[in-house]
Amino acid sequence: MSSRLQVLYQKKPSYDIVYSNGFDDLCLEFDALSIKERKICIVTDHCVKEHYEQELYKIFKDNCIQCITFSFPEGEQSKTLDTVKELYEFLINANFTRSDLLVALGGGVVGDLTGFAAATYLRGIDFIQIPTTLLSQVDSSIGGKTGVDFDQYKNMVGAFNMPKLVYMNLSTLLTLSDRQFFSGMAEVLKSALIRDTIFYEWLITNFYEIAERDLSILEEMVFRTDQIKKMIVEKDPTEQGDRALLNLGHTIGHAIEKYKNFELMHGECVALGCVAAAYISMKKKLLSSDEYYEIRDMFVPFNLPISIENIEPAEILRLTKSDKKMSHKGIKFILLKKAGKAVIDSTVTDEEILEAINEIHYTQEDIKE
Ligand code: GLY
Repeated sequence: MSSRLQVLYQKKPSYDIVYSNGFDDLCLEFDALSIKERKICIVTDHCVKEHYEQELYKIFKDNCIQCITFSFPEGEQSKTLDTVKELYEFLINANFTRSDLLVALGGGVVGDLTGFAAATYLRGIDFIQIPTTLLSQVDSSIGGKTGVDFDQYKNMVGAFNMPKLVYMNLSTLLTLSDRQFFSGMAEVLKSALIRDTIFYEWLITNFYEIAERDLSILEEMVFRTDQIKKMIVEKDPTEQGDRALLNLGHTIGHAIEKYKNFELMHGECVALGCVAAAYISMKKKLLSSDEYYEIRDMFVPFNLPISIENIEPAEILRLTKSDKKMSHKGIKFILLKKAGKAVIDSTVTDEEILEAINEIHYTQEDIKE
């Protein structure tokens, strides 16, 4: 299988997303990337390095001037300016110039960090994305959002920086842990909820094959999710308007992620955030209660949480308000009019947010009752 999507930036062709079941088709992209005249630095984390770096290194090494690898410990804790500084030092020591190339090999942390380093090293050096997690294949590798966390703020420092290519090897999805895989499913469900009722129904119908990781079903699922993202980011690349829809579930989700000190996976927090957003939508009479419960329960077969124990709702509210998705007018909340139609709403009150956080919060007493 080899197919592709072309993503436009400011209405002009910008980069292709290539879909394959291995890494070998990457060679077909070498001429367009002029890699013969370039040094390449593969940027990855220690865990992904063990799985794929050797294979990638072999593919690149005889086709470019020099291929080197920079890796760092996996996890959100590495998504900092300190890691970017180490990468700059590594590139300077290897005499990387503006005409060389960075290759982001891994999940969202690797892609965001590498894209940001590429935007800033020597005022800009090319990079490509090779996402290896479901979450990065359906969300973070597409659309040019790059950056790192800063102090307690997630993705606070960054740049919009388009890759030269996104290369998806879908068979990498088969090696993910269940928890990692289902975490990525939260972003798939989110995209369907935002824009595509038919796809949402397709996900429900095909839930068994998805959970079993049937590769041909996964290919269709990733491709359809990426089509939704492509459509949204092409219209609004720098999030002046509708791109904010992609933040469905992320406002409260990021606050929970932070509150739990990144012990929960990003997608698990997004699922909780989506349930809270659907609850607010019901309270604002955009959704009926039947629609709310249907949306909430859809996360369950995908092993995603719809409630959480031991949180302090008032603290989650505080963290929600410190998220960068605040506008001058207040929090830009993403609500649902139905499964497949999201809207931006700036009228959500603190009381409504708190009620939604209480809805997804349970205690041991609730279980005994
Ligand atoms: N992950 C949301 C966006 O790319 O806009």
